[in-house]
Amino acid sequence: MKNQKGIVFLVFLISLFLLSCKKDGLKDSDQIIYEKVDSLLSVMSTEEKVGQMLNLGFPALLQGDFYSMRDTLIFDTSKVNLLLVKYGAGCIQNLGNFPLTPQEWRYYIGYIQDIVQEKTRLKIPVIYGIDAVHGANYTAGSVMFPHQINLAATFEPEWAYEVAEVTAYEVKASTTFWNYSPVLDVARHPLWGRMYETFGEDTYVVQEMGRAMIAGMQGNNPSAQNKILACGKHFLGYGASYSGKDRSPVILPEAIIRQIHLPPFQKAIDEGLLSIMLAAGTLNGVPSHADHWLITQLLKEELSFKGVVLGDWGEIDNLYAVHKVASDEREAVKISVLAGIDMCMEPYDESFAVHLIDLVNDGEVPESRVNDAVRRILYLKYKSGVFEDPMLKDYDYPDFASEESHVLSLQVARESITLLKNEKETLPISEDLKVLVTGVSSNSLNYLNGGWSRTWSGEDTSYNDTEKLTILKAIQKEIGLSKVFFSQGTDNTEEVDIEEAVNKATHADVIIACIGEKPAAEKPSDIEELDLPDAQISLIKELAKTGKPIVLVMVQGRPRIIREIEPLVDAVLMTYLPGNEGGRAITDVLYGNFNPCGKLPYTYPRFSGSLWTYDHTLSDERDIHFKLNGFTPQYEFGFGLSYTKFEYSEPKISADTLQVHKDLTVEVQISNTGSKAGREVVLLFISDEVASISPSVKQLRKFKKIELPAGHTQTVSFTIDIHDLMFVNGDNEWVAEPGYYTVSVGDKEIRFYLDKD
Ligand code: BGC
Repeated sequence: MKNQKGIVFLVFLISLFLLSCKKDGLKDSDQIIYEKVDSLLSVMSTEEKVGQMLNLGFPALLQGDFYSMRDTLIFDTSKVNLLLVKYGAGCIQNLGNFPLTPQEWRYYIGYIQDIVQEKTRLKIPVIYGIDAVHGANYTAGSVMFPHQINLAATFEPEWAYEVAEVTAYEVKASTTFWNYSPVLDVARHPLWGRMYETFGEDTYVVQEMGRAMIAGMQGNNPSAQNKILACGKHFLGYGASYSGKDRSPVILPEAIIRQIHLPPFQKAIDEGLLSIMLAAGTLNGVPSHADHWLITQLLKEELSFKGVVLGDWGEIDNLYAVHKVASDEREAVKISVLAGIDMCMEPYDESFAVHLIDLVNDGEVPESRVNDAVRRILYLKYKSGVFEDPMLKDYDYPDFASEESHVLSLQVARESITLLKNEKETLPISEDLKVLVTGVSSNSLNYLNGGWSRTWSGEDTSYNDTEKLTILKAIQKEIGLSKVFFSQGTDNTEEVDIEEAVNKATHADVIIACIGEKPAAEKPSDIEELDLPDAQISLIKELAKTGKPIVLVMVQGRPRIIREIEPLVDAVLMTYLPGNEGGRAITDVLYGNFNPCGKLPYTYPRFSGSLWTYDHTLSDERDIHFKLNGFTPQYEFGFGLSYTKFEYSEPKISADTLQVHKDLTVEVQISNTGSKAGREVVLLFISDEVASISPSVKQLRKFKKIELPAGHTQTVSFTIDIHDLMFVNGDNEWVAEPGYYTVSVGDKEIRFYLDKD
């Protein structure tokens, strides 16, 4: 016994020693970087410093106008000399109109780095940035994964980690060190066209998935071969515009900003996130790019963010052109830099630098502010490894687009697909049956991939990976050509030739109707209403008249209203934007090769005018005078069926009172009572029964995914502590108030009490 204690004590001492070495090691390496940064900064001229703050689009260096196409991809030496040499731009980014192979990226970025080495005094390497938001989507031949919304539907952070790691590897194989990903916006409005780029409507899901993605993409050493710098975006509240339109005003009380929108960024900063991009638009009337409170007080001071704050595309110009808080470009630059922006994405030319140099020379922007920005930028560059090896000559990338990575993409796509309805066991479909495959998304890789796919908008078919299978091709491969009828319809992708589809349906046993949204990115993804285009609704209505069973396959970036057609179909699959393996994944689910397990990461509305999130308040839901129940979504957040059946036991709780400094365990038994093995996402919600601010009806606090063979039971346990009961009160402070709380897991509930002390 005595000996054992001695051993324990020795282990304790060794651990303390190792821990202190590790801490010192980290501190040392950071200190060394800051010493290098400060010594470089001390010899930089104002012009050289300001140059580092300039983030330009790649086309600014090319012949032709900014948006010219591939055949004009030739450097313009006068632009190169002006922007890279005279103004010393610190960052070049993106391309957007077509993908380049890794070799082409290497060539073009190599040219840029060579110019910097040969022609600039301090030879500070440029850092190249890209929007690789579902795989290295701008690199030809890379693996295009499902979008973030699909990752959210898997409720499996491990997939976010792995997808991010492969993305980082393939981006780095393209000689690029910085990725403008992940999106940490909490998507509170289903009309928002960038919903698919997010992890959905719930703060906790966004936070957990974002954390995993940053760990996979950047880890704690972004200079490693398979890591790159991540950039969390868009700070803050971008997913909550009141109109649902992109880049439009957000009005939010501070308590909601802190409770709903801030935690994913806070968590990401704790994970070591080194750069954050601002939101385009205004928050409570103040454009983010002019908001000193947001950037300097909240982000840099309160959250202690030491990384780079990057402006979004053209948003400084927008301060005078759109938001009207500056009278000209010079004033816009002044306001934004004083608000705390470190790097400015005015992508077209050198004008930001011209104005900022002038403002510093005139004493209107203190040099100390510029020093702060450049110190952050140089730190970022040192951390990325671009100083040591800008062309990554010490690495090669044999696993680019490896079979394993394609399989990962397929698996994530499968696990994201969410079965929303399955009557009369329509699914899985027997391979003996004849099917009609129809609808706008039935034979399109572009629909499966959505925006940011080889091109910015994702619409251009010229860069598709033609070896990949559309839904139609995958079904043909699965059951043979002779059993598949097809009617895509007219060339107009928003319409199908309904008559032809109905005629062909008469020869089929089952109709697979693939509806959806054409690919779009950012502002062009704005729509006027959530309803599906009329042509798609009419198609389903006419097909229903044939009396054949219909499987509705939805390929769409946000939930489009299906109220009228849902009762006409027998099964519904939500596939979101499942990427290049989407056709195979959907087919695997349709034919039962894979048992669906995705869950909705947002509330699926029934009506365009009733757009509540699941964590609304009771007063949103029910009018006590008229007894109206207003919360009647088509499907609830977290909903998703399986080909097997899971039953939940009554939850058990370790104590009926939670003490402030202790925790509680909630245990529930889940049984697979069906006949197939399956995966189940177990969601734990907590409701605060009475609070000083009207509480939300429930809040997701934990989730776990399990896999169960048929006939098996598993106990799942969750630990709850005081943090899981907290909310932001009227004084904008996080609190947990004493009183009763209800925990719900599956269809079961249990109550407990939070003690005062
Ligand atoms: C988008 C960002 C993107 C940036 C660079 C902006 O318009 O809002 O998400 O990272 O462009 O392409």
